[in-house]
Amino acid sequence: MTPRSNPGPRRVLVLSAATASMVIAAGIAAVGTAEAASTLGASAAQTGRYFGAAIAAGRLGDSTYTRILTTEFNSVTPENEMKWDATEPSQGNFTYGNGDRILNQGNAMGAKVRGHALLWHAQQPGWAQGMSGTALRNAAINHVTQVATHYRGKIYAWDVVNEAFADGGGGGRRDSNLQRTGNDWIEAAFRAARAADPAAKLCYNDYNTDGVNAKSTGIYNMVRDFKSRGVPIDCVGFQSHLGTGIDSTYQANLQRFADLGVDVQITELDVQQGGNQANIYSTVTKACLAVTRCTGITVWGIRDTDSWRSDNPLLFDGSGNKKAAYTSVLNALNAGGTMPPTTSPPSSGGCTASVSLNAWTGGYVATVRVTAGSTAVNGWTVAVSLPSGSAVTNAWSATNAGTTGTVNFRNVDYNGQLAAGGTTEFGFQGTGPGPSAAPVCRVG
Ligand code: G3I
Repeated sequence: MTPRSNPGPRRVLVLSAATASMVIAAGIAAVGTAEAASTLGASAAQTGRYFGAAIAAGRLGDSTYTRILTTEFNSVTPENEMKWDATEPSQGNFTYGNGDRILNQGNAMGAKVRGHALLWHAQQPGWAQGMSGTALRNAAINHVTQVATHYRGKIYAWDVVNEAFADGGGGGRRDSNLQRTGNDWIEAAFRAARAADPAAKLCYNDYNTDGVNAKSTGIYNMVRDFKSRGVPIDCVGFQSHLGTGIDSTYQANLQRFADLGVDVQITELDVQQGGNQANIYSTVTKACLAVTRCTGITVWGIRDTDSWRSDNPLLFDGSGNKKAAYTSVLNALNAGGTMPPTTSPPSSGGCTASVSLNAWTGGYVATVRVTAGSTAVNGWTVAVSLPSGSAVTNAWSATNAGTTGTVNFRNVDYNGQLAAGGTTEFGFQGTGPGPSAAPVCRVG
């Protein structure tokens, strides 16, 4: 199918035949039914998502590469430029030249920039490979602090820890010099990253997690533990380096992580070329669109010739032509999906709020989730900024002060007390356009 042009803003959400309250109770979000957008980024943006690519600083001088990059993508990830060996080649000497080139490229495009990766057993500088114990732990945490501080406020999501779980069925940690510093190295890294850059979403990222399996379950248990203890984690990256098939539980696996209260992202997608390549790309895209908290997809390179793999796994061939896989992704994106929530910046104390929207022409129903930080909450208020022409008509499980502009929603008597990490929901209905900015939660 030839995609149509005219990628301008144009989102129409259609509420199903069910009443608004039934829709909320069922947790179903609206599905888009408007004209197609003609690029991957614009199509993903229709449901509030991004579509990104891993890029290499050394390729930015290639005009075909940059033409596709700037036309098609609204997120970038440095393929190698923000890794430990690139950013701290000798201990305490930080080099950000190529990382900054990726950041600047993303900024110039108005794209989200994913940070990859603060700690990993691979691509460590030689000096770190030779370290162990407390010296390595301190060096690793210092690395997290320094790099996250350098990029403070500029990174949408950091892969704080990459590939720390073992393959092979046990569901346990991978042996590495970092793991040998103590099992708590991962949470120490997340806490250091949060302290250095409170605005970035903090992700754990791994591969061979493309369904419900022993490895993904090991990671699931870690994320559940982190959430229960208030360790700051906001997202899980599913690399999705795929072969000729895809696990039938791919979407269910994303959903079970989302149900823990983290975003999920497809972070390094590439698929072996063969009979199923286009279908597998489409399946992955549809799975993300079906999971409300799946906030975006990144492919690991642009053209087949840019890939770390030799089996032509990307969306553009070596000459920069769109492949069948490209069209299948674009069509899947244009078919619509759930709207991801907009979430207030994470914080270690206090509370956060996120809103999910069911919108239709002329009105909307919003469901707001309130989550306590690392300490218990006794009373909360959520401020929701409504755009011009929007007005609240009724609310449930909260009381609202005002109906237009910035509306404060206060807890009712039965849902003001939240345990550390605990959540509750309230909702409201309105006329006009729904909120598009992140709600702000405060205690009291
Ligand atoms: O830059 C040097 C160059 O100067 C030198 O001439 C050349 C000779 O081999 O090597 C170049 O560095 C290579 C670098 O890619 C840039 O091309 C490294 O050797 C090579 O090891 C490195 O590979 C990267 C790989 O991570 C390292 O493990 C791939 O580009 C990169 O795509 C890949 O990305 C990883 C993710 O970070 C994590 N998940 C898996 C994914 C694929 O392996």
